[in-house]
Amino acid sequence: MKRKYGIVLICAALALISGCTETTIVLNNSVAQSDESSDNSQFSTADDPQSSTDESSDANSEPIVENNNITVSTGEVLEINENIVCEEGKEILIENGGVLELNAELDLSGDLYIEGKLIIEENAKISGSGVIHVINSFDDIDCKGTVTAKIDAPEPVEIDGVTYVGGILLVNKKYSLPRTYGDGLRPEVSEAIKAMRKDTGYSMSLRASSGYRSYETQEWWYNYYCERDGVEAANTYSAVPGHSEHQAGLAADITSTELSYANTAEGKWLAANCYKYGLIIRYPEDKVDITGYIYEPWHVRYLGKSTAKLVHDSGLCLEEFLEVDEEFLEFDEEFLGVD
Ligand code: DAL
Ligand code: ZN
Repeated sequence: MKRKYGIVLICAALALISGCTETTIVLNNSVAQSDESSDNSQFSTADDPQSSTDESSDANSEPIVENNNITVSTGEVLEINENIVCEEGKEILIENGGVLELNAELDLSGDLYIEGKLIIEENAKISGSGVIHVINSFDDIDCKGTVTAKIDAPEPVEIDGVTYVGGILLVNKKYSLPRTYGDGLRPEVSEAIKAMRKDTGYSMSLRASSGYRSYETQEWWYNYYCERDGVEAANTYSAVPGHSEHQAGLAADITSTELSYANTAEGKWLAANCYKYGLIIRYPEDKVDITGYIYEPWHVRYLGKSTAKLVHDSGLCLEEFLEVDEEFLEFDEEFLGVD
């Protein structure tokens, strides 16, 4: 079978007709329709497969070997439909306003910088020893596929007393919320829980036994636990007021708060599936030394489907994923204890 790689500019005529300024470039194994519109220097390959007419090659077997940088410019959509390699020392830059849609495998040994939008479709994959750099927001990634390459998060920023990393609100033993922050469970969290219940045919209870908790409610519970079990023990499972994700309206305790929940059919289902609904198990069993909390198989945190999938697939806890795990998390002394 004849094989010819090409960069196909498919939108130019449409753009002229419709006045649309967006340009779509498709990098795939189809026959080029418009060679003059291709920026071949940007996509030329080590063995120049664009001009290949190798009769024996299998259309799915040979990746395009990318040995040049790729820039997806503002107003441009680049669809990659053929496996591609980004070698060490090379980079792919998606500029602000640019879109890269990946429908194949990207073997990344270099760097991928995301300022625009990266869409990783269901069967697509980014693997390799390279790094994906999120410059602005994790919302710039729409991941339905698989990512095993390392993701580099931007630095934390504080806005009105709330800390965000790549747009993700971060609250833990180190980062707090203002006393007045929060006003209820966010609709996206209740929608996610509703969807889980519906998809399991209402066969499991999967209800939020605790959702939003104000600063004052958290304070009441924290003090109660301190009196009951002592400060040291309380700190392993209850957040000091101002430090709970429940105050952000982004977390819920599903059904139980017993450790044995992890061994129930529902607890197992939740652990295996909640990421599909945009939720993660926030305090995993093997991350106690990083989160500073005991395993809470019931406590889910909403991140949105794409980010939850990336975190789930990474096997990291949120602190590791956001690269804020450099120090063991402990509450400040001044907050501790009963009033
Ligand atoms: N149980 C979690 C850590 C909280 O109190 O927010
Ligand atoms: Zn909780």
